Amino acid sequence: MDYQVVVLAAGQGKRMGADTNKVLLDLAGAPVIVRTLRVFETDPMCSGIVIVTRADEADQFRALVQHYHLEKVRAFAEGGKERQESVCSGLERLPQDPEMIVLIHDGARPFITHACIAKAVESAQEYGAALLAVPVKDTIKQAAHLEVEKTLERKSLWAAQTPQAFRLSVIREAHQQSAAAHFMGTDDASLVERLGMPVAVVEGSYRNIKLTTPEDLLIAQLFMEREEE
Ligand code: CTP
Ligand code: MG
Repeated sequence: MDYQVVVLAAGQGKRMGADTNKVLLDLAGAPVIVRTLRVFETDPMCSGIVIVTRADEADQFRALVQHYHLEKVRAFAEGGKERQESVCSGLERLPQDPEMIVLIHDGARPFITHACIAKAVESAQEYGAALLAVPVKDTIKQAAHLEVEKTLERKSLWAAQTPQAFRLSVIREAHQQSAAAHFMGTDDASLVERLGMPVAVVEGSYRNIKLTTPEDLLIAQLFMEREEE
C-alpha cells in the first residue's frame, strides 16, 4: 500500500540550543533532515514527500533536496508558529484522494525504519489512524506544585512517536475541527482522539528517538557509528 508523507522541519530547535534549526545540524556527514528524508526516498511504498519549512529557510532546504537528489519531494509548504499549524499547511499540499494513507513525521527523527513505517501504514488502513509508540520505561508521577498526586500505572503508558499514520479524510477532518474549536494538541493523533475516533497503537522502536536536547545528538552519533561498524 502506497503512502505519502509530510515531514516537519519548521521548528526552531530551541531546546537543542544550537545556533541553527536542529534538523540542519550535521549527523555523521549529512544534515539530520537529509537522513530522515532518505528513509522515505528509499522506501518503495513511499510515493511522495511534502516538506514543511520556515519561509526564511525554504531555500536552504530546496538546495539540500537538489544536492542529495531527493526525487520524491513533491512540494514545500510554509510552516506555522505551532507544530499543528505546520502539519495543516503540509496536509494542504497533498493530492486530494480522501482514501490515501498519509504519514506525519518529525524531521528530527532520522532513525525511523521501513519496517516500522510499514506496520503503521498497515494499521492506519485498518483503523483510519495509528501511531508508533514505545512502552514507557520510567515510573511516571503526576504532581502539582512539586507534590505527588498519584503514580500512574506504567503498564498502560506508552510514549508516542512519529510517524503517525492516517487516512487523509480522517486527519483532515480532525485538523479542521480542532482549528474551529481552537484546540491545540501535542501530537496529531490527539486531534483524532478528541473526535472519539479509534487510534491504534503500533509498537515502535526505542531507537526512533527525536533529537530534542544536546544529549540526543550524542546518542544519535553513537547510533550512526554502530551502524557503520
Ligand atoms: N516543527 C514544525 N513547526 C513548528 C514546530 C515544530 O514543523 N512550528 C517540527 C520540528 O522542525 C521538528 C518536529 O516538528 O522536526 C518536532 O518538534 P520539536 O521536537 O518540538 O522541534 P522544535 O520545535 O524545532 O524544537 P523546540 O521545541 O525545542 O524549539
Ligand atoms: Mg517544538
